[in-house]
Amino acid sequence: MRVIEGLAAMRDACAEARRGGARLGFVPTMGFLHAGHLRLVEVVRERATRVALSIFVNPLQFGPAEDFARYPRDAERDRALAGSAGVDLLWMPTGEAMYPEGPRITVAPGPMGEELEGATRPGHFAGVLTVVLKLFAVVQPDVAVFGRKDVQQAALVRRMVADFDLPVEVVVAPTVRESDGLALSSRNVHLDADARRRAVLLSRALAAGVARFRGGERRGSGVAAAARAVMDTEAAIAVDYVACVDPGTFTPAERATEACVLAVAARVGATRLIDNVVLGEGLEGDVRLPG
Ligand code: PAJ
Repeated sequence: MRVIEGLAAMRDACAEARRGGARLGFVPTMGFLHAGHLRLVEVVRERATRVALSIFVNPLQFGPAEDFARYPRDAERDRALAGSAGVDLLWMPTGEAMYPEGPRITVAPGPMGEELEGATRPGHFAGVLTVVLKLFAVVQPDVAVFGRKDVQQAALVRRMVADFDLPVEVVVAPTVRESDGLALSSRNVHLDADARRRAVLLSRALAAGVARFRGGERRGSGVAAAARAVMDTEAAIAVDYVACVDPGTFTPAERATEACVLAVAARVGATRLIDNVVLGEGLEGDVRLPG
């Protein structure tokens, strides 16, 4: 595995990796790698000859009151994990290299970016799409993989790729969960034992919504209410939203269908967690780690 810092060096290495018609796969991350990230590497490996992975904690996607400074980082550990996962090119650019004069032109996410995470975290998706566009411009991957864990982000990247005619295939991979259902996240490291116990409520709430849907409920509000009722059993969790949404717009779905996404965001102590499930797939459609 080659470890690269500079933009020009990464651009050259990627051009080299694509030489002779080889397909270059790409997994963008913010590091502190876990089994969810490594699963994306596996998924992209099946679709590409070479694999690039980037690690960049993108300041542009954090609000002023958010956890940019506190976001977990461990370059040494990430290198070892990326190496054993079979990454060919590990790119760790610096903030100065990515935004030498600060961000100026940014990508406007449009209406889909105003919903759910966009409503709770103003500017977040503009930051995400701007950095993803920049990462794509340097790597020029044939295929890039994103996790369903951040379903709205993945949908917005797809939308950007379509709207800007970017020559990248975007693949969305299932969420990887701990044995009790908690979706893996770099931020889980901040959960103390008490918060960790409570955090399982997000996936339990999603399971309750899916069960209500399977029981015949076809009002989106009814499915969301079943999930909400589970969240409300724990006063120590501050819910940002529980919503059953249309997968194309991320606006509340009047009629719940198999394609609809049930999404939840909540603060457990000082840590903000998000999770979601596709109603037709249920949590069985995701990957569960052994206990
Ligand atoms: P990060 O949170 O590091 O996630 C990188 C990728 O891993 C994203 O596509 C995310 O959806 C996926 N991922 C995270 N947890 C997962 C899980 N439990 N199962 C499956 N996939 C999972 O998302 C970002 O970074 C950033 O916003 C980024 C796209 C890199 C732009 O800065």
